[in-house]
Amino acid sequence: MSEWKITYDAWDPEQQPLREALCTLGNGHFATRGAFEEENADEQVHYPGTYLAGGYNRLVSTVSGEKIENEDLVNWPNWLPLSFRVAGEEWFSLSKVQVLEFIQELDMKQGLLTRTIRFQDTAQRETLLVSRRFVSMANPHLAAQAWELTPLNWSGEIEIRTALDGRVINSGVARYRSLESRHLEPIKADQLDEDTIYLVAQTTQSKLRMAQAARTTVYYDGKRQEVPRQSIVEPDYAEQVLRVSCSQKQAIAVEKVVLIYTSRDFAISEPLLEACEKIERLGGFDQLLASSRRAWLRVWKRCDLEMACNQEVQPVLRLHVFHLLQTVSANTVGRDVGVPARGWHGEAYRGHIFWDELFIFPFLNLRLPDLTIALLMYRYRRLPEARYAAVEAGYRGAMYPWQSGSNGREESQIIHLNPKSGRWVPDNTFLQRHINAAVAYNVWQYYQATHDREFLTFYGAEVIFEIAQFWSTIAIFSQEKGRYEIRNVVGPDEYHTEYPGSEAPGLNNNAYTNVMAVWVIQCALKVSKMLDTSRVAELMDKCSISTEDLERWQHISQRMYVPFIGESNVIAQFEGYEQLDEFPWEEYKAKYGEAMRLDRILESENDNVNKYKASKQADVLMLFYLFSSEELTSTFERMGYGFKPETIPDNIAYYEARTSHGSTLSKIVHSWVLARSDRKRSWTNFEIALMSDVEDIQGGTTSEGIHLGAMAGTVDLVQRCYTGLEIRDKVLWFNPVLPDEIECLNFQIRYRSHWLSLNFTHDKMVITFDKGWSKQVKIGVQGQVYTFKTGEKREFDIKRD
Ligand code: BGC
Repeated sequence: MSEWKITYDAWDPEQQPLREALCTLGNGHFATRGAFEEENADEQVHYPGTYLAGGYNRLVSTVSGEKIENEDLVNWPNWLPLSFRVAGEEWFSLSKVQVLEFIQELDMKQGLLTRTIRFQDTAQRETLLVSRRFVSMANPHLAAQAWELTPLNWSGEIEIRTALDGRVINSGVARYRSLESRHLEPIKADQLDEDTIYLVAQTTQSKLRMAQAARTTVYYDGKRQEVPRQSIVEPDYAEQVLRVSCSQKQAIAVEKVVLIYTSRDFAISEPLLEACEKIERLGGFDQLLASSRRAWLRVWKRCDLEMACNQEVQPVLRLHVFHLLQTVSANTVGRDVGVPARGWHGEAYRGHIFWDELFIFPFLNLRLPDLTIALLMYRYRRLPEARYAAVEAGYRGAMYPWQSGSNGREESQIIHLNPKSGRWVPDNTFLQRHINAAVAYNVWQYYQATHDREFLTFYGAEVIFEIAQFWSTIAIFSQEKGRYEIRNVVGPDEYHTEYPGSEAPGLNNNAYTNVMAVWVIQCALKVSKMLDTSRVAELMDKCSISTEDLERWQHISQRMYVPFIGESNVIAQFEGYEQLDEFPWEEYKAKYGEAMRLDRILESENDNVNKYKASKQADVLMLFYLFSSEELTSTFERMGYGFKPETIPDNIAYYEARTSHGSTLSKIVHSWVLARSDRKRSWTNFEIALMSDVEDIQGGTTSEGIHLGAMAGTVDLVQRCYTGLEIRDKVLWFNPVLPDEIECLNFQIRYRSHWLSLNFTHDKMVITFDKGWSKQVKIGVQGQVYTFKTGEKREFDIKRD
C-alpha cells in the first residue's frame, strides 16, 4: 500500500473474492465489484456483481417445506464482459495461461482500477494486457473500461468479445444459495448501431427496470478503427465479437463505455431511451476519466484525513473513506436510499439498512450534511410503515425495523443457515428495538453538527416524537420494581436472544436499550421546548400525543429500571445476565482464534451461546461510546441512580473479558472507550478494526461485502475520538489525545455553516476558519472557550498528561 494506492503484485485465485470486494468501484448510485471483465461468476474465484443503490427485489423460497420471503439487493446485468482470443482458439482466462507478471492497483485518488498482466499461452505467445476501469463520480450513470493489448512476440488476428449479460443471478453468498436467486426478467436486448449494444432487464417483483447501453471502440495508433463485428442477441444477453489484426509489439486499444439508467432515475423519459440517446454524446475513455477524476479530487478535498506521519494507517483510512463515498455520495442525494451495512459491494445482509448508520453518520454530518439529510429522509419516508409496525405490535408511535429495505417493513430473516452445522435455525435478532434509539440519536446528532432548524422542525422532530412515543408505550410500569421496564427485546449483542431454557425469544431490561429509551424521551421533551409552540401543537396533533403522554414521558425518564450486577457498579447487560455461566474463553480462543462467531460454533456443537456470559459485541459499552461521562451521569441521576464515572473502567474490564468480537463494530467501540484511560489498548483495538476488511479478519465475510460501519467507525475514531471533538452546550469542543502512532493529522469539517481546517500535532492545534457567512462560533479547546469569526486562524498549545 502507498499513500493513495492499494497494490496487489501477484495473482492469487484464493484472494480474488476479497480483492473483488475491496476493489469495488462505485459512485453512490451503483457499484460494481472488482471482478475480472473476462470471467463469469463461478461460485469460487470470480463473482462479478453490479448493484444499484436501493435496488431490491423480493423472492419466496421454500425451506424445509416452509415458504419464506426475502428481499435481496439485486445483482444486475453484468456490464463488464470484455475478453479476447486468438481467432478460433480459446477465450482468454488467467487460469489457462502462464502469468509472467501481474499487478492490480486501486488508485483511490482518482477512483481508477488498473490491472497489468503479462502472460504466455500454451502456444508460447507472450502478451501484455493493461486494463483500466472506473465508475464515474461525475456522471452517476457512467462506467468505462479501456484495454491496451500488446502481442509481445507474435502477430495475428484476434477476436474481442464485448457483452452485456442479463443472465446473472444472486449467488454471491454461499449460505443463501439454496434460496431463490433469479431476480431479473429479460425485457429486451439488441444492437443500437455499429458499435453500441443495449440490454433492458426488470426485477421480477419490484418491477424496477434497468437499461444498459455499451459502446465498444477500437483504436490503433491513437486512431479509431472500423473493424468487422458480429452480434449475438438474446433477450437477456447482447454480445459483439470484433475482429482485429494485431502486429507484434504494437498495442491496440479497446474502449467500452457504458451508461446505466433505471426507472427510478429522475429527469428522464424512459431508461432505454436515455441510455441510447446519451451514449452518443459521450467522449472517449480518457476524457470521461478526467471528469470523474476531477469529481473525486473535489470530494477528497473535503473528505480526506491526512496523516503523512503514519504511512501504514494512512492508506487504509483512505480506503475506508473511499468505500464510504462510493456507497453514498452527492450522487445519492435526492434518491430514496439508506446507507447499507455492507456497502453496495456484495450480497451479504442483502443490502439492508441496520443501526450501522450510527457509526457512519458522524463522518457525513461534519462534511456532507446534505447527504445525511438524504439518508435521514430515507427513514422519514418510512415513518408511516414504522407507525403501522408499532400498532401491529401493540404499541403507539413508530417502531422502525431492525433490517430495512425498500418500503421500511421488517426485512430480518426469520431463519438462517448456520454454515458450520448446515442447520437452519430461528433468527430472533429482529427484536433489536434499540434501532429506534439509533434513528432518533442520528437525527439529533445531525442537528447538533449543522444547527439545521428547518430539518428538525419539519422532519426530524416528528421522527424523534414518534420514537419517544414508541418507547413510552413499550415501557411498562412494574409494581414489583417500582420502575418501568422494557421486556422481550434483544440488545446489540446478538448472541443473547432468549433466556436459557425459555421457549419465548427476547430478554428483559437490556440496559443499553433502557438507557437509550430514556435518552430519546429526554431528547423529545427537549425538542418540544425548542420548537415554536404552533409547530409543536401541529406535531402533537399529527402524532396523537396528548398532555398525559408527555407526563408519562417525564415519569418514565425518571423511573426507568437499569439492572446492575449484584451489589456492584457494573451495569448488567440485561436482567438475569449474572445467572449465566462463565464461558471457557481460553479453550475456545486456542481453537478458533480471537474473533469468533460463538453462536455458530456452539450451535454446531449442540450447545447454545445463550447460556453463557459471552457477548458477540459491545453492548453495555455502547453507552460509553455514545455519551460523555457527564451526559451519562446526568441521565442516570435523572433516573434516580447514582452512577459514578469512576466505575466506567470496571464496566469496560468486565465486558472486555466476556466479548468475542464476532462483529467488526465491536473493536471500534472498545477502542473508543479505552482511548482516554488506556491508550495502548485503545490503539491495539483500533488497529484490529482498521485491518478487519483489508485482512478479512473474520475469514471470508469481506468478500460478501465490506463492513461499512467498521470502516466509517475507524475514520470517526480518528476524527472525533482522538481529537476529543464533541458538540456540547453550543460549543464545538476539542480535547486532543493523539495516539503516539499518529504524530500529525489534518482535516476539514463543516460545523454549523462554517468550513474549518484543523491541524493537529501532539503539542499544537491550529484552527483555520474559511471565509463564510455564518455568525460567530464558539470553539472550546481543552476546557477554554474561544469565539471565532470567519477568516480567523488560531494556534493552541496542547497539554498532554
Ligand atoms: C452485527 C450488527 C450489525 C450487522 C450489520 C451484525 O453482525 O451484530 O450489530 O448491525 O451485523 O453490520
